[in-house]
Amino acid sequence: MDKGNKTILVTGGCGFIGSNLVRYLLRLRPGWTIVNLDALTYAGNPANLADMEINRRYNFIHGDICDHRRLEKLFKDYSFDGVIHLAAESHVDRSIFGPMKFVRTNVEGTCQLLAASLESWRRNGEPQDFRFLHVSTDEVFGSLGPEGFFRETTAYDPSSPYSASKAAADHFVRAWYRTYGLPTIITNCSNNYGPYQFPEKLIPLIILNAIEGKELPVYGDGGNIRDWLYVEDHCAALLKVLEAGQPGRTYNIGGGAERRNLDVVRQICKLVDRCLGRGRDQDSQCLISFVADRPGHDRRYAIDASLIRSELGWQPENNFESALEKTVKWYIANSDWVTSVRSGEYRNWIKTNYSDRG
Ligand code: NAD
Ligand code: DAU
Repeated sequence: MDKGNKTILVTGGCGFIGSNLVRYLLRLRPGWTIVNLDALTYAGNPANLADMEINRRYNFIHGDICDHRRLEKLFKDYSFDGVIHLAAESHVDRSIFGPMKFVRTNVEGTCQLLAASLESWRRNGEPQDFRFLHVSTDEVFGSLGPEGFFRETTAYDPSSPYSASKAAADHFVRAWYRTYGLPTIITNCSNNYGPYQFPEKLIPLIILNAIEGKELPVYGDGGNIRDWLYVEDHCAALLKVLEAGQPGRTYNIGGGAERRNLDVVRQICKLVDRCLGRGRDQDSQCLISFVADRPGHDRRYAIDASLIRSELGWQPENNFESALEKTVKWYIANSDWVTSVRSGEYRNWIKTNYSDRG
């Protein structure tokens, strides 16, 4: 795909990664028009892109990826040069309490989007530079022991309803490539962090609780390991894959920043205390509380990103320590955004997830 005038459909553009991606694409590709299709679930917030609303190259469409008719009309209204598919139910804990929503959005929604893309691709004469980029997760590979890395060839072994639904979606994306020739690509990325992440996920939850002097819940023994990637580095990787990745391929994306959860939580405490000018007697680490573990909790994720590095020349530009500090400062500076996303639904979720953890 060349860098000229393009019209790209982004699904889930009002969520955490989607909103960072839309902003990134509009900045890096001045000739592109971005259409953002988002159902605005609890995790989708148009305020995440409020500053983009006056941009003529940005169009927001309120709609559900499971709505076949809506998709048909959308693909007729616009002749898309590519699709970047992020819309999903994305929170593992929520998938444990209510898996069916994950099946609907992540599996059925992805298939509806594939079907609509195929129909439109055929109508347009099967352009070979069309791309369907499916944004998936490293969680499809299951859990690692203390050694080793997830490679593109690692067998799928998902543990949670969330990761099982993403794994199923990946299989369908591959099937649409092999069966119908639709030029699809899959990326499997590790844990992201950065601005606009909904505060149910570990890093924003801990930042906000530390600011507010609330308990900092650490699941199990805190020894689970994640490979952290700053969200803008993920966006840069997605753009590279969209423009230069090979159809039918999978690319793993990771930060090369493996950290134990407990160490991440401690580091956030130090940063919050320093940014707020707190004294030693106000150490947030005393708020850390070990709570009941997540059922089926994967122990360790770690990505081998050598394929995307060697083939497409991508590597993360941000290191974990400085990007975590940027993130802490963003949450401190954006308390209005925090207030706006903490609806009644959010408060119910906190009660549901944490009340029985002890
Ligand atoms: P998020 O939960 O913050 O955002 C999801 C967005 O999808 C929201 O705006 C929501 O309104 C929208 N959405 C949900 N259901 C929809 C539907 N039926 N139709 C249209 N829109 C719908 O998620 P995120 O953390 O930004 O993740 C985005 C994607 O990246 C997901 O597919 C996720 O699996 C994948 N991913 C996330 C991470 C991570 O660390 N957050 C890492 C790797 C991959
Ligand atoms: O690996 C990529 C995945 O990363 C994405 O596919 C998911 O969409 C994204 O949500 C994320 O999944 P995790 O389950 O790893 O993220 P979460 O922030 O929920 O949890 C990170 C780690 O912290 C995990 O080991 C569980 C732990 N945790 C989480 C919460 C919310 C706690 O110890 N306490 C908490 O309160």
